[in-house]
Amino acid sequence: MSVPSVNIAIIGAGLMGREIASAIQRWPALIDHPVRPRVTAVCDIQPAALDWFDQIDTVTTKVTDYQDLLADPSIDVVYVAVRHDLHERIYSDVIAAGKSLLAEKPFGIDASAAAAILDAVVAHPESFVRCSSEMPFYPGAQMAINYVRSGALGTIVEARNSFLHASDVDVDKPIGWKRQNRFCGEAGVLNDLGLHTWHVPLRLGWEPEAVYGVLQNIVDQRPGPDGALVDCDTWDNAVLHSWTRHEGTRFPLITETKRIDPGQKNTWVFEAIGLDGGVRFSTKNPKSVEVFSVVDVPGSGKEQVWQQIDAGSQSVWPTVTGANFEFGFSDSILQMWAVFLAERDGSLGDRFGCVTPEEAVATHGIFAAAQLSHAEGRAIRPQGMRITG
Ligand SMILES: NC(=O)c1ccc[n+]([C@@H]2O[C@H](COP(=O)([O-])OP(=O)(O)OC[C@H]3O[C@@H](n4cnc5c(N)ncnc54)[C@H](O)[C@@H]3O)[C@@H](O)[C@H]2O)c1
Repeated sequence: MSVPSVNIAIIGAGLMGREIASAIQRWPALIDHPVRPRVTAVCDIQPAALDWFDQIDTVTTKVTDYQDLLADPSIDVVYVAVRHDLHERIYSDVIAAGKSLLAEKPFGIDASAAAAILDAVVAHPESFVRCSSEMPFYPGAQMAINYVRSGALGTIVEARNSFLHASDVDVDKPIGWKRQNRFCGEAGVLNDLGLHTWHVPLRLGWEPEAVYGVLQNIVDQRPGPDGALVDCDTWDNAVLHSWTRHEGTRFPLITETKRIDPGQKNTWVFEAIGLDGGVRFSTKNPKSVEVFSVVDVPGSGKEQVWQQIDAGSQSVWPTVTGANFEFGFSDSILQMWAVFLAERDGSLGDRFGCVTPEEAVATHGIFAAAQLSHAEGRAIRPQGMRITG
C-alpha cells in the first residue's frame, strides 16, 4: 500500500539524533501507519558527527548550519536534539519556518524560554509541535495509564512517577554540558529528567496545586577538559511532593528525578494506589505490571493481593512484533514517532499522544515552584499553567 512520505531532518547528531535516526529505520514494523517517514537531512556544528549518518541511505543532505535545512522546501518535520540553552532559538526558528517540530525536553532552558516557544507555536498553527517523552509508550506504562483511567483505583490514596539514573555516581566522570547550569538550566536534573515524570500525571489531569521541592547537589565539582576540577552546579536529585486531585479527591503525588540513585539505569516508575485498586509499573522489570485488589482466596476468604501481569510487546500503535515478545527503549522511541506522525496526520484519534507544548510549559512552572520551594522551605503553587484540553 502506498502512503505519503514525510521527510525528516535532524538537528543535533549526538546521542539522541542517532537514536531517532536508527529507530525510524524500523518503521515497517508498524502496522497500517498513515505515513512513511524518511530521514533525509542532518545538521551538526561538528562535521565529524555527521559521518555516522552515511549508513542511512535516505540521508542526502548533511550541513553544519541548521538554517540550510529550514530553507529546504523538501523537509516536512524537524527533530531537534541540542543543548538546552539552544532550544529557544532553534525551536522558534523551526516553527517560524513552518516546519513541524518534535522538540526535545525540557522545551527551553527555563519557563521564559518555554513560554517564548509556545508563543511561536500559537503564532504558527501550520507547524505541528510536540515534545519528546518516550517512557509512557512502554506497554506496561500504557496498561497502568488505562488502569487509572478505568476508575479502578476507587478513592485515590497516592501516586508516584520517578525517573532514576546512577550515571553520576562516578565522581571522576568528566563534566559535560548537562552538568552546568548555563547549558542545562538552573532546574538541573529537573530539566534533564523532569518532563519524563510529568507527562503521565499531567495527561491524567493531575496538575499540581502546590509543590514542595527537595533538591540536592551531591557532587559539586567534576574534572574539566584539562582534568582540573571545575564547578558542577546542577541539582543532581530532585524529589517533588505535590498536592493534586483525582476525580475530585486531593492526594499526594510524588515525582522523583535522580541522577544519583545507585543501582538505577534509566528506571522509570509509575504507581498509583487507591482504596479499591492499585497499579505499579517499572522499566526495571519491563514485562511486569502489578495490579492490586481484594480477592476471595479459596480456603482463606478475602485477602489483599498484588497480582502480576506480563505486558507483552504491543503499545499504542500495533506492530508486527509477536504479542508475547519483549519491548525495549528503542521500541518506545519508535512508538513515540508513530504517535507524533499519526497525530500530525490527524489519524491518532483518542490514543495516547506525545507531550503538548502546553504540557511542556507547565513542567517549567512546576520546576520553578520546586526551586523556590527548596530555597524558602515551603510549598509553592506553580505558575504559568496553560493546559486547556
Ligand atoms: N528523550 C530522551 O530520552 C533524551 C535522552 C537524552 C537526551 N535528551 C535530550 O536531547 C537533547 C540533546 O541531548 P543529547 O544527549 O543528544 O546531546 P549530545 O551532546 O549527545 O548531542 C548534541 C549535539 O548537538 C550538536 N550541536 C550543538 N549546537 C548545535 C547547533 N547549533 N546546530 C546543530 N547541532 C548542534 C552537538 O555538536 C552535539 O553533537 C537535550 O535536550 C536532552 O535533554 C533526551
